[in-house]
Amino acid sequence: MFQIRLQVFSYLRRKEGHAVDIALLGNGTVAKGLISHLQSQKNKGCELFSIRHILLKPDESLPDPVFTSSIDTILNDKDVSIVVEAMGGRHPAFEYLKAAILSKKHVVTSNKELVSFHGAELARLAQENQVAFFFSAAVGGGIPLLAYLRDTAQQETILEITGILNGTTNFILDAMTRRNLDFKDALYQAQKLGYAEADPTNDVEGFDLLYKLRIASCVAFGQWIDKESIARLPLHTIAAGDIEFFRKRDMTIRYLVNTLRNDNGFVATIQPTAVSSNGISAQIQRNNNLFLCRSDRSGEQILVGQGAGALPTAGNIHRDLQRISKGERMMINGAEPTLSADNGKLALRYYIRLSPFAAEMFPMEKVTETFETDLGVVLITHPVSVTWMFDRIDELRVIDARIFVCAIQTVKEGE
Ligand SMILES: NC(=O)c1ccc[n+]([C@@H]2O[C@H](COP(=O)([O-])OP(=O)(O)OC[C@H]3O[C@@H](n4cnc5c(N)ncnc54)[C@H](OP(=O)(O)O)[C@@H]3O)[C@@H](O)[C@H]2O)c1
Repeated sequence: MFQIRLQVFSYLRRKEGHAVDIALLGNGTVAKGLISHLQSQKNKGCELFSIRHILLKPDESLPDPVFTSSIDTILNDKDVSIVVEAMGGRHPAFEYLKAAILSKKHVVTSNKELVSFHGAELARLAQENQVAFFFSAAVGGGIPLLAYLRDTAQQETILEITGILNGTTNFILDAMTRRNLDFKDALYQAQKLGYAEADPTNDVEGFDLLYKLRIASCVAFGQWIDKESIARLPLHTIAAGDIEFFRKRDMTIRYLVNTLRNDNGFVATIQPTAVSSNGISAQIQRNNNLFLCRSDRSGEQILVGQGAGALPTAGNIHRDLQRISKGERMMINGAEPTLSADNGKLALRYYIRLSPFAAEMFPMEKVTETFETDLGVVLITHPVSVTWMFDRIDELRVIDARIFVCAIQTVKEGE
């Protein structure tokens, strides 16, 4: 096995006249997917990109000359045209990509956290240094949704983007809905299958979705949405009884992101949401993703597919490499302003499951129905302002840390 790996790397490393030399930072899931993807292109006789260096951590052994533990080897190698970052995390990924740009190398990344925090600066630097900065795989894994948004935004006004953009939590919700698992068992299965990390916080508390929402909104609307202004509800306090409550009402819970352009600017939410069991979101099974874009001329366009995984993600990275070799340079230009989402004028109905003591603190004039369940009290609200609701949730969470809150979709999908 080890020998085969060495042969593959040596094969990829061999320099062909026409292939563009790239360096890969990291050698994990995504990086290995890209290595395999480029190998399959080569097998088809169309090798356009050749891996010249693979950066490993300083303390790792280097079994083949293609590996290096020195970022300077990559930065100083004039033959390397493109640096592909697949290490994850903000640091040192940011410093490495910044240095690559200053060394006049094009950069591609699949790192949503990095782009969400430092995308504006990297885009500005790339523009100043006349090199490319692409990050298609950072949102949607293998689904070409950022490229779709970029192309659409050049011709039309995008009005709304929404969808299921986290495969791990969709796997969990689907397992709870169709296989009656409780949250803990569904999460455990997701971890065993490699869909969820050992520490699932980023997925189940919506931070992964926060990064994705910001990036997709920036590409679609040309503006960064301030992360503090995005209304984000976590998923991890959900219980089997919550799923059951909605099942009896022909509804299914999905973890949805939504950004909507309106007269005041933008609405931006990340919330568990009860949707009709007959609607398209409820049909998205296992770890698949759904992405919906509504624009003024094309109307609704929907993309469905694998939002993660080594090979689908490598496909999106490869398309970025191809864009660079065709002379394309940017997905955003680095001059996008940051503005706050205004969720005050969006009114939604909510399901709130909480302890009897906490329920007493909730203003009953906002409640249409109350239920006593095995898990506690369930309150269903009238349509209330999202901002108002989030202020109440902050207060209630101090009293009941296990509170579960979920928006209720009233407009049927497709209407
Ligand atoms: N996996 C997916 O399906 C997917 C899809 C879309 C986007 N992404 C994004 O792509 C990025 C990579 O994800 P992944 O799943 O491939 O992660 P991964 O499997 O953990 O791979 C990352 C690799 O980079 C290495 N690394 C970390 N810091 C490094 C450093 N300073 N120098 C050299 N190597 C370093 C890690 O080594 P250690 O293991 O020793 O730390 C690991 O081998 C993340 O930003 C992720 O969000 C992933």
